[in-house]
Amino acid sequence: MSDNVVMTAMNYDSKRPAAANPVKIMDLSLRDGHQSLFATRGRTEDMIPVAEMMDEVGFWALETWGGATFDTMHRFLNEDPWERLRTLKRYAKKTPFSMLLRAQNLVGYRNYADDVATAFVDRAAENGMDIFRTFDALNDYRNFETVVKQIKKSGKHFQGCMCYTLTEPRLGGDVYNLDYYVGKAKELESMGANSICIKDMAGMIAPYDVYALVKALKAVTKLPIHLHSHFTSGMASMAQLKAIEAGVDILDTCMTPYAYRTSHPAIEPLVMSLLGTNRDTGFDIRKLAAINEVLEKQVMPKYKHLLDDSKVSIIDINVLLHQTPGGMLSNLVGQLREMDALDRIGEVYKELPRVRKDLGQIPLVTPTSQIVGVQTVNNVLYDTPDERYKMITGQVKDLCYGLYGKTAVPIDAELQKKALKGYPRGEEPITCRPAEVLAPELEKAKAEIGDLAADMDDLLIYAQFPVTGKKFLEWKYGVTAAPDSVKPITLESVKKQDELIKKAKAGELVERKADAPAKSERVRSFNVFLDNEYFSVDVDPTGDAPAVVSAPRVAAAPAAAPAAAPKAAAPAAAAPAAAAPAPAAETHGTRMLAPMPGMIVKYVKAIGDTVTKGEAVVVLEAMKMENALVAPCDGIVKGIKLKSGDTVAKGAVLCVIE
Ligand code: CO
Repeated sequence: MSDNVVMTAMNYDSKRPAAANPVKIMDLSLRDGHQSLFATRGRTEDMIPVAEMMDEVGFWALETWGGATFDTMHRFLNEDPWERLRTLKRYAKKTPFSMLLRAQNLVGYRNYADDVATAFVDRAAENGMDIFRTFDALNDYRNFETVVKQIKKSGKHFQGCMCYTLTEPRLGGDVYNLDYYVGKAKELESMGANSICIKDMAGMIAPYDVYALVKALKAVTKLPIHLHSHFTSGMASMAQLKAIEAGVDILDTCMTPYAYRTSHPAIEPLVMSLLGTNRDTGFDIRKLAAINEVLEKQVMPKYKHLLDDSKVSIIDINVLLHQTPGGMLSNLVGQLREMDALDRIGEVYKELPRVRKDLGQIPLVTPTSQIVGVQTVNNVLYDTPDERYKMITGQVKDLCYGLYGKTAVPIDAELQKKALKGYPRGEEPITCRPAEVLAPELEKAKAEIGDLAADMDDLLIYAQFPVTGKKFLEWKYGVTAAPDSVKPITLESVKKQDELIKKAKAGELVERKADAPAKSERVRSFNVFLDNEYFSVDVDPTGDAPAVVSAPRVAAAPAAAPAAAPKAAAPAAAAPAAAAPAPAAETHGTRMLAPMPGMIVKYVKAIGDTVTKGEAVVVLEAMKMENALVAPCDGIVKGIKLKSGDTVAKGAVLCVIE
């Protein structure tokens, strides 16, 4: 037995004494759990059945909001993120709620102006948020200043994170060593943190490293230490136990169906492991089992198709090999697959540490993991032997300018110069707190969106997500109808889908091409995977027997009218890339093609504008990164048939330059 953990009794029921220093637990199932395992697709209606039960367990907090939930809800689920917060609060009244706040990035992917940041925290607190787990992707705490001021003003708990990252296989090296993290803890304490979180988003913290780290932090601060460690590499359960031995105060876990893989260790084994010790959680494991039962039977069937079951292994040793978050690696794979370049993954692994080093050895966490990842893929796909960084994303330019904050080590000077050539804010990078160069944004956002934003909550959706946020507000207020792809699936439709798969496997799925009825509006598309084969099946529930029509995915490509883009509006969706034949009429001039699937953010040029080669014409969002696509030649812009918000396939014609 270790020095810090003392066994006193073994009996589960009558003789279970209250522990002297129980480990406190935050449950992450309703945020990081489904974000990690089910692409953040958890719906509020599927949280309600367990919310009250979870409120009875005795968790230190429930993480219910923030991170990617805000984005996913309005974009893919047609749910108002603010409404979820208020709804869950009605079911879980006792346990504090925690959210993941990306500091000045809020719940988006760039630094927002101070007025947006202040308003967002104010509204989150008003809507029921209690604990603001705050992190900055660069661990640049100047980006905390504005939000912390408002967290304190709202009288809420400020939890300061240190993003745990490595450049070596284990804690140490020139950049991310014990001194670095101890220094960060001192900074957080001086900013008024109520607790400190070691945020091991990639699951890279090794058990003996976390032991040393917690001991070192405990020696310099009295603040509670909270460990957040993803299971991705398989070390997290061991790390949790060593952290307990070192005196950690709070741990993050998930309910079993939301646990392990790229998520977090489950709570139940921990409860049993600590039973009867002076760190006993005091939780009733039967209450936990009852929650799991509801989740397994009523909720999980709707989400199992999102679980990545492409591998038997539930851990990813690539994380140990590459010191890179698992989510980032799977994004890279997804991105390469969409571009038919999966065979180049080896080159990507090689290029990634080079790009990271060039960009100042930044931690890899949202959004920096995407910034490094997408740029790495761009380099592998578009660089030539005599030119590196041929296609630099807008976000890399912003990073080079200093808009995300100060990097751990300086950015490569040559890359910085190249990235900032013609950069609209200026070619000289800034050294001040990034938000200081950002003009207030709320007024402008209000002017743009007008009455479609009924209140500040609406406005904050739009201010952070101008394209998809506007779309959502149009759905919300009935300006346009929400597409079927954002509607919830029911247990009944899951059952039907399972039956279809069974039929297909038995060879009973018959194509009925000749007399196929027209598809109604209720048609839903399902991806059906059979061993190595892939089918897209449209199910149109007209009565009892669903009519099955053959609908190969590629047919959804925008053949003539690009506005009718595939309704799966997800640039990140792993659908096979669709080919996009060019409109027949456009025979003159040079066609500018989408180099990757994505969503049109905006056209910088309009029809009739003159462009010179290399000038930006259109901004395309792919993998949440904005790419300014430049004119391949001089000429006049013609043939723009797409608009902001449209989804395009790789190879789609963006315009013609003549
Ligand atoms: Co996490």
